[in-house]
Parts: sequence; structure tokens; C-alpha cells
Amino acid sequence: MSTPAEELVSLITGQHGRIKTLMTDVAMASDAERPAAFERFRRYLAVHEAAEQTLLHPQGLVEFADDNVSQRRITEEQDAAAVIATLETMRSAGDFKVQFGLLQEAVTHHAEAEEHEELPRLVAALPEDVIAKVLDGFARVELWTDDIADSPLAGATTFTAMVTQSMTAFADSTPES
Ligand SMILES: [Fe+2]
Ligand SMILES: [Fe+2]
Repeated sequence: MSTPAEELVSLITGQHGRIKTLMTDVAMASDAERPAAFERFRRYLAVHEAAEQTLLHPQGLVEFADDNVSQRRITEEQDAAAVIATLETMRSAGDFKVQFGLLQEAVTHHAEAEEHEELPRLVAALPEDVIAKVLDGFARVELWTDDIADSPLAGATTFTAMVTQSMTAFADSTPES
């Protein structure tokens, strides 16, 4: 039987694996397939990063006030969001592929930094009841990206809106400890 800390690490690592697969799908897609593949990637990343920005990084800002391990992750997420906003308006497939390749690299490094630098320290520092609540939140990522009509993603047409609406939903659905 695994502990909530182990379950959380495994859930987040699994979501990073899914993000990498979705990015590969976009990179390999034909011109006709690309918009739908990009949409699936954007939605999943938006809900995953919203979970981190609502439930995880704020804990890190408090726990590790002496260094900026969580602040660096937040900055990387803001940088990725800016690149995605540019990609959303790009009409040239060639330019899109170049920019997307750079994003793919940055998001992969970001996920590795979360897995190796931030997450192990956080799960060691947080009490089990807090970890259980964070775990509940991350479990919604699959749910909300599987059924868009009944999720905070409904009506969101930009990555920024997807993240904002998901963050509000995570904040509303997670009781204060
Ligand atoms: Fe992240
Ligand atoms: Fe992540």
C-alpha cells in the first residue's frame, strides 16, 4: 500500500508523461491533424498547470521561503503560457513547428525540475492531510479534460482562459485546511 506522498508523486509524474505524449502528437501531426492535437495538449496542460499553481507551488513558496525553487517553476509556467498565446495566433505551419519545438523542450525541462527539485522536497515537508487534499485536486485533471462540457474548460477558447477558469474551479473545490 503506497502512502499519499508516493501516490501524489506517481500521479504528477504520470501527468507529465501524458503531457509529453500530447506534445509528441502535436509535433508529429499533419497540417490537418495539428489543430485538434494542439487543442488536446492545451487543455490538458492548462488544467495540470492550474492544479500546480493553485495547490502545489503556493505551498512551496511558504515551505521554501529561503530559496526560489517554486518561484522558478511559476516563472517557467508563465513563460510557457506566453509562448502558447503566440502559438494560438500563428498561421504559418513552419513558424508554428519551430516555436512548438522550443516549447516542447522548455515544458520537458520544467516537468523534470518539478519532479527532481520541487516535488520530493514538498511531499517530505507537507502533512499527510494536506497531501491528501492536493491528491484529490490532481485527480480532477483527467476528469475535467475528458468531459469538457461539464468542466471548467467549457467555453474557454484561449490557454489563458483555460488556466484561469481551472484555477478558480480548483480554489472553489478545495476546502481550506
Ligand atoms: Fe508545472
Ligand atoms: Fe507539472
